[in-house]
Amino acid sequence: MPGELSNAMKKKIFRIAFALLITVAQIFICTAQSLPGGRKGKTIDQKVDSVLQLMTLDEKIGQMNQYNGDWDATGPITKDGDKQGQIVKGMLGSMLNVTGVDHTRTLQELAMQSRLKIPLLFGQDIIHGYRTIFPIPLAEACSWDTAAIALSARVAATEAAAAGVHWTFAPMVDIARDPRWGRVMEGAGEDPYLGSIIAGARVRGFQGKALGNTDAVMACVKHFAAYGAAIGGRDYNSVDMSLKTLWEIYLPPFKAAEDAGAATFMNSFNDLNGIPATGNKYLQRDILKGKWNFKGFVVSDWGSVGEMINHGYAKDGYDAAYKAVTAGCDMDMESRSYINNLSKLVKDGKIKVELIDDAVRRILRKKFEMGLFDDPFRFCNKEREQQQWNNADNLKAEKTVAEKSIVLLKNENQLLPLSKQTTTIALIGPFIKAVRDNLGFWSYQYPDDSARIITQYQGIQNKVGSNTTLLYAKGCEINDSSQAGFAEAIQIAKQADVVIISVGEASDWSGEAKSRSNLHLPGMQEELIKAIYATGKPVVVLMNAGRPLIFNWTADNVPAILYTWWLGTEAGDAIADVLFGDYNPSAKLPISFPRTEGQIPVYYNHYNTGRPATSDSDRFYRSAYIDLSIYPKFPFGFGLSYTNFSYGDIQLSSSTMKTDQPIKATVNVTNSGNYDGEETVQLYIQDLFGSVVRPVKELKGFQKIFLKKGENRQVSFTIDVDKLKFYNDELKYIYEPGDFKVYIGTNSQEVKEAAFKLE
Ligand code: BGC
Repeated sequence: MPGELSNAMKKKIFRIAFALLITVAQIFICTAQSLPGGRKGKTIDQKVDSVLQLMTLDEKIGQMNQYNGDWDATGPITKDGDKQGQIVKGMLGSMLNVTGVDHTRTLQELAMQSRLKIPLLFGQDIIHGYRTIFPIPLAEACSWDTAAIALSARVAATEAAAAGVHWTFAPMVDIARDPRWGRVMEGAGEDPYLGSIIAGARVRGFQGKALGNTDAVMACVKHFAAYGAAIGGRDYNSVDMSLKTLWEIYLPPFKAAEDAGAATFMNSFNDLNGIPATGNKYLQRDILKGKWNFKGFVVSDWGSVGEMINHGYAKDGYDAAYKAVTAGCDMDMESRSYINNLSKLVKDGKIKVELIDDAVRRILRKKFEMGLFDDPFRFCNKEREQQQWNNADNLKAEKTVAEKSIVLLKNENQLLPLSKQTTTIALIGPFIKAVRDNLGFWSYQYPDDSARIITQYQGIQNKVGSNTTLLYAKGCEINDSSQAGFAEAIQIAKQADVVIISVGEASDWSGEAKSRSNLHLPGMQEELIKAIYATGKPVVVLMNAGRPLIFNWTADNVPAILYTWWLGTEAGDAIADVLFGDYNPSAKLPISFPRTEGQIPVYYNHYNTGRPATSDSDRFYRSAYIDLSIYPKFPFGFGLSYTNFSYGDIQLSSSTMKTDQPIKATVNVTNSGNYDGEETVQLYIQDLFGSVVRPVKELKGFQKIFLKKGENRQVSFTIDVDKLKFYNDELKYIYEPGDFKVYIGTNSQEVKEAAFKLE
């Protein structure tokens, strides 16, 4: 019939239409491949899925693989196996220790040669600064100042992100009660409440307003979990603790960091109650990804997947990969267990591809959130890198945070602050002219360090006028057995009006793998202090360290002591500000200082026991030492000011509390000294009896207040049932009616107290 198509014609049209359809589909696939994640308008999860669909099993496993970039920007990039080739093959998801716009660009370009062009993530340990080094985290924690701590992380993130880094392996939120453990320097001390608040501040600081901004890096909360409780303070050691302690003391800062939106977590080297954290399903799947619903990804610690063989928990790499991935570890840092075994594990039917997909989805999601699929080079901007390299605002911020981190431990007869008009000052000790030792562990070396870091000598010189003479003698080395330099030091001390002695531990004595059994001031340094003190001149001691050191003679005899930790690039100026009263110290210890190693662990929030000692004369069949005080040398929360703060009694709005009716505890705080100053008012609570024993005191709140000389202020804390909660024997987080004490004061020992009842 006219108008009808012949069969042959119909077939032809069908063939053309089919060919067209195939072409369109091919174009679509090609587009999707050249622009993984493809079209705009999709949610991130949809984009992730569209990339995942295109990936082979090997490419997926590649995303779960992370290598160290152990080469220089200008050096060979094929060292240690063909990493370059592996990037091009899409067998690598991330690299660590690769920084600098040029270097990261070179590597990202290789990733852009891979079939799916999935961008690499570059991670680095930006622990307390990238270019501008801030105080070590434990020192910053002394500020109890979340804005200052967040500012430090913000600056670090801005500098690192400008240098091509996407991801910092920080914050470390491990609670640490044992100063023998060198990594105590990386955390916020011994308290879960303070630790949680600081953990949140650090995450927010690193991640800024939003991931994907070019001044934000992803945080990596570590080390999950309980790494800080390594037995004997020996790094990498086992951890054995009750689940109650795990939940109550060690997990809260991790939860707080997760609540603050941390993008990633790192598991840890230790085994926890017999199961290595890296292969620990309870920690990673049940708690983190289960109960807490964490959507980011978990990276192993360096080599920790493979190290499960040494632990005796995995038979070989195949078994280690199986156990880690099953337990919820998404990315293998440097052990190569995943890249070598996961594919076979899938093919052998030991693990389902869905498990791999889940890990890869988590990793890809972060790459999308960082905006790397839109522009893999968005963190490679020369101009931004240059702007941040010697940024005066960052240095200013560093000095502010450093001042807030210095703890005044002693100040007899108001020796401090010193007058800027002092005629002659003797500067003695191995840290006075030290350069890099001001930075501490986990800081990077740059060729211009000596021009940039403000030494203590320089800081003091900048502060005093031309009428002041500074005399200098080193006296001894940090860890010396010689007293040969003493004579010269004594001689200049005799000529001076006041002596400043700067001592401590070398900056590579605290940090990873820096456990010490002897925490006394190393070498001849305390002997040097004694010799100078014997001249009869007023002595100020500066203590430089990454952990609480033991210096009982100095603490008992020397009139003025500042614990300066390792303060960073502007250390010298910050110390001088405090020495000469341009900054009135306000810091408070976030960790108890032991009297001797035999007292460790010593922490304020211990249980009462059945036979508590109530004072040092109370030793008869008591929980005490027959040869040592029950008290630490300096307690948690301790730190002096140049002024005095006096506390009135606690006023409670009611002595009975109902579950839905919080009460208020109020004290009047007066600046009764001679300087304006800042005080950290601390609130502790004690549950007097319950279905499980409770600590003698737990920090439950604090407020920083600035009072002018003579000023006073009412400081109030609201106490609700949330502040009374604890984990019971069944690990339920509950409160129980009963009797409570509330303590408010200037540190964990000097407090006012009141009592109330929860009905
Ligand atoms: C440390 C981690 C660190 C990692 C990468 C490990 O040895 O335990 O804290 O992030 O190395 O440098």
